[in-house]
This record gives sequence, structure tokens and C-alpha cells, in this order.
Amino acid sequence: MINKGRVFSGARPTGRQHLGNYLGAVQNYVALQNDYDCIYSIVDLHALTTLETTLDLKQNTLEMALDWLAAGIDPERSIIFIQSHVPEVAELHTILSMVTPLGKLTELPTFKDKIREQPNNINYGLVGYPVLMTADIVLYKANVVPVGVDQAPHLEFAREIVRSFNFRYGTDVLIEPEMKVTKIPKVLGIDGQKKMSKSLNNHIELAATPEETQKRVMMMVTDPARKLRSDPGDPDVCNVYTMHEIFSKLEEVEMINRECRIAGIGCVDCKKIFAKNLNDHLAPFRERRAKFSQKPQEVLDILYEGGKRARKIAEGTMREVRNAVGFP
Ligand code: TRP
Repeated sequence: MINKGRVFSGARPTGRQHLGNYLGAVQNYVALQNDYDCIYSIVDLHALTTLETTLDLKQNTLEMALDWLAAGIDPERSIIFIQSHVPEVAELHTILSMVTPLGKLTELPTFKDKIREQPNNINYGLVGYPVLMTADIVLYKANVVPVGVDQAPHLEFAREIVRSFNFRYGTDVLIEPEMKVTKIPKVLGIDGQKKMSKSLNNHIELAATPEETQKRVMMMVTDPARKLRSDPGDPDVCNVYTMHEIFSKLEEVEMINRECRIAGIGCVDCKKIFAKNLNDHLAPFRERRAKFSQKPQEVLDILYEGGKRARKIAEGTMREVRNAVGFP
């Protein structure tokens, strides 16, 4: 392995992952393991900023971990752990919060979105969300953070916090992380309109059975102008075609592009081909997932073990941080 440094990324425990999560994050996490020393965290503390109840938190954490492992995040090569298992992150968050200007936090677009989304739960943690995220990254001295472009303001802000900490305490113990923007194909939901998301119920779950997957695929909205089987379609505005481009072989993609435009192939057949290709692609994932889900204790052990390894690194950083701050 050519070691290019340390990657850290995190995702909130949203339970079973869907195609959007897979193409937008998980697949990339898996690939990065070839070049970097990777740490992936299920950020349950961050989840508390938006959750109304924690009844599903454990289950959602476990389901997400199962999907990550089945997708190929390899606990032998990488650390996969639960954020709250390393309490040092909370201490670092507190220390960093004192070098973070409040005015900038409340100006962040992500914070403003949250105020709109949950006007009855504008909690203190929401304001500090990017500070906790910074603590995550710098606690493990990560130099590369793969995230979607929506997280760019957070990453830029993390860099500012690091500079501000290092300047204030005349140190260089914290590392300024680089953002690595994940090139995400635009993954729309089966409605063909909105970004794929569980809350909109327009998603296709990775762990679904082939039959369920086929059913969801058959519900996908295609070119809205194509009403009849005999109407020619436009692949450029068809979400199923976009998916073919990702999951189907080149010849098939070319055939569909050509035949759709002359009504040589109908949407039903086009979707059947996609469903088959998607199911083929996910078959090894599902097989691994089934194996892991028969041994939930093993999955928990992997997460605990990952937490222990993460904590070792965190303890080292915290010793340096406390020294730099000058605690007696
Ligand atoms: N803020 C990220 C999100 O909402 C999740 C996250 C938390 C994260 N800590 C992180 C991402 C550290 C990268 C690095 O998607």
C-alpha cells in the first residue's frame, strides 16, 4: 500500500443504507482503503442534534455498520468505530469551542437549514455541530476528509478552527485537514425528482431482497414526457438511464440510449434490465451482509475493537492538546 496519509470520515447512524449512501459515500470509503490509513466513524453524538428519540439509535447504528462491513470496509485495514466510544472527542470539542467565533457558526448555511427544518428544536448542539466535527477530524490527526460538497463549509471552518487553536496556543499539534470532494453522481430517488433519501421514502435499500429491489425499480419515474410505449423517450432526462450508466455494461447502455430514442425499447423492459444488473451487482454485498447479520456479536466486537484503537490515537492527541493549552 502506498500510504498517502490518514483519512477520517463520519456519517450519522441512519440505519440501512440506500443506493444514494452507497454511491455518495460508502463506495468511496471502501476504495480509499487502498491508498490511505482510514478511520470511519458512526457519529452517534452528532445524531443527537436532530433526533427526537433514541429508541432506534442502537439498531440504526448496527444496521449501518453491517452495510459498511458488507460493502467492504475492512476492519483489518481500517478503523470502524462508534463516535461516542471515544469520549475524548467531547473534551476536545469543549476546548475548540473557546477558539471558535460564535457569529460564524450561526451564519453557516447548514445551521440556517436546520433552523428551518426543526424550528422547535434549535438546540445548542446544532450550533456546535461543526466544532464537534472538527474535533472528530483533528483528534485522529487526519489529513484527508472525504465528504460531499455539501460539507465544504464545515471543512473550511474546521481548517479555521485548527489555525486559530494553533495560533492561540503557539503550537502545531493540530493538523489542518484537506477536503477531498467525493464526485457523486446525482442520485435521485425513485420519484426521479428529489435526492434519494430514506425520509422521502424514494430510496432503494442495499439490503433489500432481489424481489423488493425489482419492485422499487419498477416504480421508478422515467422520462415524464414519454406517456405511451410508442412514444420515443429521452435518456438524458431519465433517472433509470442515469442508473444504467452506473450499473450496466457499456454495450447495454449504448443499446438503451439508442433504442429509447426510437421507442425500440419500452420503460418496463428498460427497468427490468436495470433491476437485474443492480441485483447482480449487489449479490456479493448481500451475501456478506447475511453472514454478518447472523453474528451480531462479531459486528459489535469489531466496533468495540475499532473504538479501542481509535481511543489510543485520541489519548495521544489529547495529551498534546492539554499540554499546548497549558492546563496545570
Ligand atoms: N457532518 C457530516 C455529515 O453530516 C458527518 C460528520 C461528522 C463528518 N463528523 C465528521 C464527516 C467528520 C467527515 C468528518 O454528513
